[in-house]
Amino acid sequence: MTPLYDRDQAAIANLQKLRFFPLAVTGGRGAKLTEENGHELIDLSGAWGAASLGYGHPALVEAISRAAANPAGASVLSAANGPATALAEKLLAAFPGAGDNKVWFGHSGSDANEAVFRAVTKATGRSGVIAFVGAYHGCTMGSMAFSGHSVQAGAAKADGLLLLPYPDPYRPYREDPTGGAILTELRQHLELAPEQFAAAFIEPIQSDGGLIVPPAGFFRAFAEICREYGVLVVCDEVKVGLGRSGRLHCFEHDDFVPDILTIGKGLGGGLPLSAAIGPAKVLDCANAFAMQTLHGNPISAAAGLAVLETIEREGLAQEAERKGQRLRQGLQRLAERHPLIGDVRGRGLACGLELITDRQSRTPASRETAKLVYRAYELGLVVYYVGMNSNVLEMTPPLTITDQDIDAALEILEQAFDDVTAGRVSDTVLADFAGW
Ligand SMILES: Cc1ncc(COP(=O)(O)O)c(C=O)c1O
Repeated sequence: MTPLYDRDQAAIANLQKLRFFPLAVTGGRGAKLTEENGHELIDLSGAWGAASLGYGHPALVEAISRAAANPAGASVLSAANGPATALAEKLLAAFPGAGDNKVWFGHSGSDANEAVFRAVTKATGRSGVIAFVGAYHGCTMGSMAFSGHSVQAGAAKADGLLLLPYPDPYRPYREDPTGGAILTELRQHLELAPEQFAAAFIEPIQSDGGLIVPPAGFFRAFAEICREYGVLVVCDEVKVGLGRSGRLHCFEHDDFVPDILTIGKGLGGGLPLSAAIGPAKVLDCANAFAMQTLHGNPISAAAGLAVLETIEREGLAQEAERKGQRLRQGLQRLAERHPLIGDVRGRGLACGLELITDRQSRTPASRETAKLVYRAYELGLVVYYVGMNSNVLEMTPPLTITDQDIDAALEILEQAFDDVTAGRVSDTVLADFAGW
């Protein structure tokens, strides 16, 4: 019989592939995936953060099955439905913003960010937006237009887009580890054109740009400056929201509240679901303006409700904090033995490991990173890399991952580092895997 991976190669378009090794999955349970040949892997990526409750969580299975057996229509476009309304109410109750807020539902982080981008420019009459170099807000034309990731270098950018450097404590802009130089630039731009910018899109941890944790207080100060000039702050928590950072919302770490929050990935626990939460004056600014037929689908919404209830019931945000510390402590121990590791960082269960060729120059070790994830895969671990230089391992496992799986993942990583460092992983393994 033809192996699943080969059938996939023959039948599924490369346009939507971001492959690092020939992973071909037939099932999953907890934080583990199974391949056709019975090979079990610990998923330290959690499907890029989408598998918030892991695979096959009973609460999710029950909610989806119940909703599918008696579906309340298929969307919110032309009818109210119970699960979508209840989910919106729950999201509003959990959002600390003081204002008169509403919820918009989508399928993906891309469509949520794009809808917000279009709505803020329409509602404010201002055309410009601010975002960051390295930001990944999605892969639709609209969301790429204000993203700053190198992987999308050829994409058309929005008129009036201002991309600021992201504050990276490991590679500080203008030698300023506080990010103060970036705030000064922000203020200068706003003073020059006070009415130009509708919104600033921020990631409270820059994920695909390299799992970069900004300096404490940076985004609180950033948001204050934006407010002075009437610029709405849109916090993209598509990857790091909903408990992953150790708090329900990642912005809570920096003690500020954005005007608009976008979430996705883990919200659906593996089903397509995203949301934007923000002021009615923005999200009600027009009818039939940002919609797709299945938006607000009751089955996805039921999954979202089950995810939120499970995060609460199982204390998964607090657990993410504890487990993240365990994971980072293990990674720190690894860093003491392996000079390839330049930096260990993260919040809760969003962890990054930056690989460098040497500690003086901090040159990104991109090839070694690609070999590392390949070898880890062979040894039973799924972990991918991100970053503008493709040299940061990103770890966003299910919030339900066990301590035992974390320890086993660390052991595999240790073996993979030993093998790569000792030259036991050949260049040929990379031939078919461009990654990004
Ligand atoms: C911060 C952030 N925003 C938006 C997106 C896009 O989400 P999606 O791939 O669900 O469209 C991603 C995806 O990685 C992301 O990390």
